[in-house]
Amino acid sequence: MRLVSGIKPTGDLTLGNYIGAIKQFVNLQNELKDAEFFIFVADLHAITTPQDKQQLKKRVRDIAAMYIACGLDPNRVNLFIQSEVLEHPLLGYIMESTAYIGEMERMTQYKEKKQKQLKDGVRTSLLTYPALMAADILLYDADIVPVGDDQVQHLELTRTLAERFNSLYGETFVVPKAYTPKVGARIKSLQEPTKKMSKSESESEKAYILLLDNINQIKNKIRSAVTDNEAKIYFDEKNKPGISNLLTIYASLTDSSIEDIVKKYENETSYQKFKEDLAEIVGSTIEKIQTRYYELIKSNELDEILNQGREKAQFIAKRKMTKVLNRIGLLRQK
Ligand code: AMP
Ligand code: TRP
Repeated sequence: MRLVSGIKPTGDLTLGNYIGAIKQFVNLQNELKDAEFFIFVADLHAITTPQDKQQLKKRVRDIAAMYIACGLDPNRVNLFIQSEVLEHPLLGYIMESTAYIGEMERMTQYKEKKQKQLKDGVRTSLLTYPALMAADILLYDADIVPVGDDQVQHLELTRTLAERFNSLYGETFVVPKAYTPKVGARIKSLQEPTKKMSKSESESEKAYILLLDNINQIKNKIRSAVTDNEAKIYFDEKNKPGISNLLTIYASLTDSSIEDIVKKYENETSYQKFKEDLAEIVGSTIEKIQTRYYELIKSNELDEILNQGREKAQFIAKRKMTKVLNRIGLLRQK
């Protein structure tokens, strides 16, 4: 079995990215001992919107280091950078030649992001992005693709394109399945707990936790998270969104069930102890991640890991691409 996934290097990583995406990969890596993992930094996807050159360069490295600092084992996972495997955009083009414009135009993410670019011009790649994403997945014959809720529609399109190609040219691609996390698929803002935790969509710095925030600041953000006045700890997303969000974070970081945590605090008459404990849990989790991150970012180890990941990815991708081109009738020689 093979798993493939990627993260776009377009923002500083938050606790939401960790719980909703990176930690899922780590859990899957630990659970599925026989599976092969291909995880990449989706840098080509980043330039569907304008990016600062220096910042993009830094973020690509940052994300790669963070993946490992968060627990991805480079011996188990092939970690690489998308633009270093040129078969991605090549198969992306083949996928553009498999998809219809109407299918691309129907994508929710495209419709939303397009609005933000109307003034400066909407890049063509913003529209064709799902074709490249399909290529990222199909190139490796992925069976499972762990993604957040917002990517499920792109996964559906990937399945459609794989099936269409297979029926046009003969069985070529594995039709992949999306895998979304049960707990923590949407960590909420600490200040407005009905909204998603996101740096770009928050007005206050207290609303989100960055994986590279100062540890004391992180603890304070948990202590000052918006809750309610009932002073009773139980899970009710509708009426107690703040406490429910904190319970979700607690459960995810301690790998325990929300039920057990509720039980642990059932006799409390205020939120203070619960918040203080959670502040320590979040603080110490992120402190460990940061220690490893700073070691990696200064060392040659990261480049060695990325070179090794690139070699393996290139090997699989080249072999697959030969097969694909051959199916279409594009290779001079077999
Ligand atoms: P983004 O930073 O929005 O490009 O997302 C990168 C990955 O992190 C995707 O798999 C998202 O679904 C996931 N993600 C981002 N924000 C959150 C959040 N607040 N809660 C859970 N997962 C998130
Ligand atoms: N589109 C994904 C996101 O915005 C990132 C991504 C690119 C991806 N290619 C992928 C995720 C392939 C899974 C598989 O988060």
